[in-house]
Amino acid sequence: KKLGPTVIFIFGGSGDLNQRKLTPALYNLWLDGLMPEQFSITGTGRTDYSDEKFREHLLQGINEFSRRKDEKNGSWEEFASHISYLRMDVDKPEDYNAMAGIISDHEAAWGVSANVLFYLAVAPQLVPEIATNLNKLKKAKDKDKARIVVEKPFGHDLKSAQELNKLLTNLFDESQIYRIDHYLGKETVQNILALRFANALFEPIWNRHYIDHVQITAAETVGVEDRGGYYERSGALRDMVQNHILQLLCMVAMEAPVSFEADEIRNKKSDVLNAIRKIKKEEVQKYAVRGQYSSGWIEGKKEKGYREEKGVDPDSSVETFAAVKFYIDNWRWQGVPFYVRTGKYLKEKTTLITIQFKEAPKYAFPPEASETWRANRLSISIQPEEDIRLLFQAKRPGQTMSLNPVNMVFSYADSYNAPQPEAYETLLLDAMMGNPTQFMRGDQVEVAWEVIDPILDTWENRPPVDFPNYAPGSWGPEDAEALIAREGRNWITLPPAKKENGN
Ligand code: BG6
Repeated sequence: KKLGPTVIFIFGGSGDLNQRKLTPALYNLWLDGLMPEQFSITGTGRTDYSDEKFREHLLQGINEFSRRKDEKNGSWEEFASHISYLRMDVDKPEDYNAMAGIISDHEAAWGVSANVLFYLAVAPQLVPEIATNLNKLKKAKDKDKARIVVEKPFGHDLKSAQELNKLLTNLFDESQIYRIDHYLGKETVQNILALRFANALFEPIWNRHYIDHVQITAAETVGVEDRGGYYERSGALRDMVQNHILQLLCMVAMEAPVSFEADEIRNKKSDVLNAIRKIKKEEVQKYAVRGQYSSGWIEGKKEKGYREEKGVDPDSSVETFAAVKFYIDNWRWQGVPFYVRTGKYLKEKTTLITIQFKEAPKYAFPPEASETWRANRLSISIQPEEDIRLLFQAKRPGQTMSLNPVNMVFSYADSYNAPQPEAYETLLLDAMMGNPTQFMRGDQVEVAWEVIDPILDTWENRPPVDFPNYAPGSWGPEDAEALIAREGRNWITLPPAKKENGN
């Protein structure tokens, strides 16, 4: 479907997200011929930029962060001719008149009523003010034409998220509000739906009768970098679990949708969130583990501890690691633990979902056949490796019956030659098209907060006594091992697919 004429405004235009992700995404869409024929992009911010200087700043971002650079001769120039800059103070209502002017000028030049996308790539405390002022623009009230994209964090806890939802839904129709979670735009994440619901093979065993447990790891090998100030108000639970990880969990655990209508998919995910057992405050210790990285050596280089990072309180009790065990109280998942963990400065960069199946009910092979025997496992690597592996037993060639595990592997790189679009490309295109399927509905965000609020509360009221408690380059605090080990299980990380086979 070709898109209609579109006017895009990016609040926080001079910021990092726009330079690293948003403009590169729009540029790639344009190179792929997916942008509307008529479009304009206006970055807004408080920095003084001429259009020229603003474009130069964005070009730097393209050169550094985009999956494609200035490909055809002069393609960037041509794309950049659609970009301009508007200096404004978001708290001055009169500054919004200039936006109204930009919209009407374009509409006059194009001779049509345009779609308008307001992208709020700004600090969360600015969202209410911007939304309120935007609402005074006539165009923003046009339910069919105007959309507003809101970046995470969406609220700071349940209460603030409810307030934000209330404010936004008083100003706009829910169908105009696009709460973004960039994990939902990742190809490998979207493929979970294809894997589960376009194949007859997996769904019959995708339940408590066959699955022992599920794991989700989202590990990073960097610290908080220059985002200490932001992170102090966030922590791992808010930064990664409330949104990205719970969304992954929904994709794994949801019931089969009847259609791909946005609300059908979102209802099914809400059902999962609603069924997650709320952890009682007095039980938080049993279900959740927190950690904070200390200083330490990585590859011959001394790295700062979290408490020494810029913008961080030297006594900070903010967690940079979190592991939680969830249960989903419904028929499909009763009794199946979902172990999730995430952290900064861990040993490997990996986002991995593991479906661990139960053991075979009867094992007829002689004991010596089975020294390396392992139960079936489906591993969905989201990034940086992008593959799906099914682990099963094979007979090792030779005159004895000796078994060992091997993998059936689907690798994106081997199967598809084409480069994958980035998450932000997919999601910006969806927002321009008016397809909210991969965005969070207000109720989903709130239930996700309900799930983690008791942990946040308990942690905030009981400052940790052992921070910092893990070294950079490790797998986090020991308690995270204990969380899973005391149930006779262990965290799974994957060697590259080829190494795991046929040893
Ligand atoms: C963001 C978090 O939402 O996701 C960051 O705020 C984190 O702290 C990032 O690094 C991870 O995203 P990705 O796509 O690199 O896995």
